[in-house]
Amino acid sequence: MCWLEILGFLTALILIFKSVYNLGHFVYVNFLGRLLGHGLDISKCGPWAVVTGATDGIGKSYARLLAAKGLNVVLVSRTPAKLQKVADEIKSEYGSIEIKTIAVDFTDGNSIYSKLETELSQLEIGILINNVGMAVGFAEAFADIADEKSLNDVVNCNMLSMVRMSRLVLPQMIKRKKGVIVNIGSISGLFATPLATMYGATKAFVDKFSCDLSSEVRESGVIVQTVHPGFVVTNMSKLRRATWTIPTPDRFVAAALSTLGLTDRTSGFWFHSIQLYWGELVRFIFPETMAYFTIKFMKSYRQRVLNRQSKSK
Ligand SMILES: NC(=O)c1ccc[n+]([C@@H]2O[C@H](COP(=O)([O-])OP(=O)(O)OC[C@H]3O[C@@H](n4cnc5c(N)ncnc54)[C@H](OP(=O)(O)O)[C@@H]3O)[C@@H](O)[C@H]2O)c1
Repeated sequence: MCWLEILGFLTALILIFKSVYNLGHFVYVNFLGRLLGHGLDISKCGPWAVVTGATDGIGKSYARLLAAKGLNVVLVSRTPAKLQKVADEIKSEYGSIEIKTIAVDFTDGNSIYSKLETELSQLEIGILINNVGMAVGFAEAFADIADEKSLNDVVNCNMLSMVRMSRLVLPQMIKRKKGVIVNIGSISGLFATPLATMYGATKAFVDKFSCDLSSEVRESGVIVQTVHPGFVVTNMSKLRRATWTIPTPDRFVAAALSTLGLTDRTSGFWFHSIQLYWGELVRFIFPETMAYFTIKFMKSYRQRVLNRQSKSK
């Protein structure tokens, strides 16, 4: 064998090994691990769950499903009336648990965290779901975003909230040698996202921060999981109808929760994991092609939303 043949053989071997490993990991995390009961028992991490952006969509489903597992829940969101409504709903379903609500607007930046610290300091927090997030100028060119305040808002809401909330709860988790932080990113953070530049960039920050923090605290017994959803039926996505590839928030969160303890980085839902895998591969091999098709997709997405809005008027 010449050196070129050896190199070719070794490269093929690595690619085959990596493909088989990825396939096995996908099946285990999304299906087999759950069937074998290998996931994490969250109730053993501490009696309280804290969920940001908890009055709608994915956050509300995390709050409900964690309550269903017997955890007391702190709902953190913007609108007091919605907080009360969701707290009442969960309480009527799971009467034995305690619920606290904290009304804060994460776009207010650093000023809100002393209130959160005061409210949370006495609680033994087993799991924090950093879910709150907003989109700005979705399917709109960065230079055309008229509302300049919204640029700060999206940084405060999507990035600062995760950093400050994690900093608030981590010391007590490390001290107890257990606890879970789940950071909700987005597939958009890992793909090219022209016409959603701010949103994609803030979600890329979630990925980097969360994955590095995970490595940093793993030995202390604390789990930091990064969840990158694809499309889910919520107000933010403006999608109204669930399909087999676009789940309801409850279906998405049930799947994502079942991956806890099995992987520290996931899309949460099996179809989104396939999207993520292929997306990252295509981005690696053909980055320009991906950016080109993303712009096309974003333009047609914007048109569909505008058409729907004009029909409903
Ligand atoms: N839906 C998707 O397809 C999708 C895909 C990928 C990633 N994600 C990510 O998943 C997370 C949840 O998204 P979602 O679709 O479930 O959103 P959603 O249905 O719009 O719900 C957002 C929640 O966050 C709260 N919230 C929004 N802005 C806030 C602020 N400034 N301060 C405090 N609370 C605020 C809302 O409360 P109010 O009702 O009071 O405003 C609501 O409870 C986000 O991080 C998002 O980026 C979603």
